[in-house]
Amino acid sequence: MSEVVHFTRQGPVGIITVDYPPVNALGPGVREGILEAVDRGVADTQVRAMVLIGAGRSFIAGADIRGFGKGRPTVTRRTHDVLEASPKPVVAAIHGYALGGGLENALGCHYRIAVPGARVGLPEVLIGILPGGGGTQRLPRLIGPEAALEMIVSGRHVPAPEALELGILDELVEGGELRDAAVAFAMRVMDEPVLPRISERGIPDHDPGIFDAIRRRIARRARNQKAPWHCIRCVEIACSTPFEDGIRQERALFEELENSEEAKALRYAFFSEREAQRSPHVSRGTPARPVAAAAVVGAGTMGGGIAMTCADAGLPVKIMDKDPETLARGMERIGKTYAASVERGSLDAAGMAARLALIEPVDSYDAIAGADVAIEAVFEETGVKREVFETLDRVMKPGALLLTNTSALDIDEIAAATGRPEDVAGAHFFSPANVMKLLEIVRGERTSEEVLASVQALAKRLAKVGVVCGNCDGFVANRSRAPFNTEMVLLLEEGALPEQVDKAMVEFGYPMGPFAVGDLAGLDIGYAGRKRREAADPAVRPLPIADALVGMGRLGMKTGAGWYRYEAGSRTPHPDPEVAALIRRVSDESGAGRRDFDDEEIVQRLLFSSVNEACRIIEEGIARRAVEVDTMWLYGFGFPRYRGGLMYWADTVGVREVYGRIAAWHQRYGERWAPSPLLRRLAERGAPLTEAMTDM
Ligand code: 3HC
Ligand code: NAI
Repeated sequence: MSEVVHFTRQGPVGIITVDYPPVNALGPGVREGILEAVDRGVADTQVRAMVLIGAGRSFIAGADIRGFGKGRPTVTRRTHDVLEASPKPVVAAIHGYALGGGLENALGCHYRIAVPGARVGLPEVLIGILPGGGGTQRLPRLIGPEAALEMIVSGRHVPAPEALELGILDELVEGGELRDAAVAFAMRVMDEPVLPRISERGIPDHDPGIFDAIRRRIARRARNQKAPWHCIRCVEIACSTPFEDGIRQERALFEELENSEEAKALRYAFFSEREAQRSPHVSRGTPARPVAAAAVVGAGTMGGGIAMTCADAGLPVKIMDKDPETLARGMERIGKTYAASVERGSLDAAGMAARLALIEPVDSYDAIAGADVAIEAVFEETGVKREVFETLDRVMKPGALLLTNTSALDIDEIAAATGRPEDVAGAHFFSPANVMKLLEIVRGERTSEEVLASVQALAKRLAKVGVVCGNCDGFVANRSRAPFNTEMVLLLEEGALPEQVDKAMVEFGYPMGPFAVGDLAGLDIGYAGRKRREAADPAVRPLPIADALVGMGRLGMKTGAGWYRYEAGSRTPHPDPEVAALIRRVSDESGAGRRDFDDEEIVQRLLFSSVNEACRIIEEGIARRAVEVDTMWLYGFGFPRYRGGLMYWADTVGVREVYGRIAAWHQRYGERWAPSPLLRRLAERGAPLTEAMTDM
């Protein structure tokens, strides 16, 4: 028998166990093993029913993503069909995940049962493909095309209780062993005269308008991509075509997607984000300190968001501020944000109450002294932060993690205010902290490996993507983004308008243009950092247009005007003639003249400046590998995932082309475009930017 699939018998029930750690992907030998096991069960006269189950932590997490794009032998017998064709009932027994090909095989089975904590889904769209193992043809027959469309186009993991309600599962196993329950279930159904086979079912009644409705709904989000549209097409085919023909068309559309640019980029994103979270700064197996209670110091925008993040993860958190009124306002804002989620339907009232119960406002350091982690989110001033850390050092229990949410300040200076710098690290959340998934974990000179491992574990617990990096002004994410922020304003001096730049970047794939994002975040935030950098370094290019806006009190959406103007109560940006006039005036004063830009030049000008800076950051060892930069751009800045990440995308343009452009702009615009030596070396060798690493 196969090494990765085992067949055993318990009385009249044959048990097929997939055992391919860590998540039972359908890797080499697994499909063959399942086929062989089903054949064996069918042939064995003592077997009257079968169970398909996963060993270890999961049922089957889907096809082996590493095998995609590599060519594979033609499949003559498909596991889902062979399972379904079995004359003896097969029960899928699901724990952990039944995703993609995992759920498709389960849909080939005659019955499906699961433990309440299991999740099922067809997440193929998230890696740029479609369910190519019959999922698009069976799921609509089982739960109706509307619910199937929603699942397949979103790719979401559906919790078992919901899957039961939808009709994907036949039963939840509330107590006891899943395997025993599955055997008992199999014995109950082994004498049923007719086996339920999904392929033989008709399509449930539905409104034919659902396809166009979902196309309209995803039009903006799915622009530049093929997979979501192909997914919809497949479900539409299921509704109008016999099963076998539908399967043929599903396969053809799957093959069209497998090697598409978007699928390759999304596979890269899948593996690189996992790689990025394994830091060369932290040896494998480094123990993490347990965290059962958290504290946040500073109840402003970020402190409130961080406290919510803790509560969302079920971690009790105390929040304090120097100012009782600010604390009360912070708690009010937290309450309002949760209430808005309840109104939107993304959270229920009980969930809101449970979260609020975990957040306790307190008015003294004594009240937080026993927490396992303190996260500081006070004003962005070294002096203020040092004072807070002096106090934390005095009051916090030994071993507590002392973390700062600074976006740019020197971690070592902050750590030096304590007698335990090894316990201090940066934990840089992105705004809004309860939404954005990136956590930049900044290692100070003296931060211990154990503390880094503990913050990595905390990130996971908080459902964040934690990436460790070194200490410098702006760390990796904001530092690599800073030249982009400069160039976007300089483009205005040279002839572009905010709405034109925003349109180019939205068409490239960002959910919002950078000027609209600036208005949302508040223009005073960038201003403060810019002034600090200008004061520290005379080579920093001033941005008179951006400064003038702040001077005019146009701080963004919160003041009703920034790069755009906003009508009361609305978040829709309107181009503003006053801004256009300001831009023209500054252009005229600079004497540089105005010219036209096309979208490609805008995109390249912004992103290449960041690629160049990212190469410097890697060269200096602040980031160690390109995957770290790419992961930060995906999760910190909304970079379009189907373009892989900043460095991956630059490779699709070509390292030599990128270098050539940067060198030309160096000639034209001066020192801020000086090519990074690492970039030059990569270009000389024709080596991909995604392979950039420190010490190369
Ligand atoms: N193929 C190959 N490797 C996989 C994999 C897959 N489908 N799913 C997970 N892995 C690997 C991960 O890369 C990781 O490897 P590493 O330890 O070397 O980094 C390891 O398994 C553990 O994965 P995670 O760290 O992600 O573990 P989690 O417990 O956090 O998450 C999971 C588990 C939810 C299953 C998550 O791994 C996941 O979403 N996997 C992808 C699921 C998926 O997309 N399935 C559909 C595949 S396409 C398909 O089935 C096509 C079919 O229709 C024909
Ligand atoms: P904020 O001004 O909204 O909140 C700061 C809070 O700290 C205020 O409520 C203030 O009363 C409190 N505070 C000040 N001194 C204190 C002290 N000594 N003890 C206790 N509380 C004190 O600022 P925001 O935006 O929340 O930023 C906080 C930190 O997070 C800064 O370091 C900032 O750079 C960083 N950050 C901000 C981001 C943003 O987009 N706003 C993004 C990522 C990081």
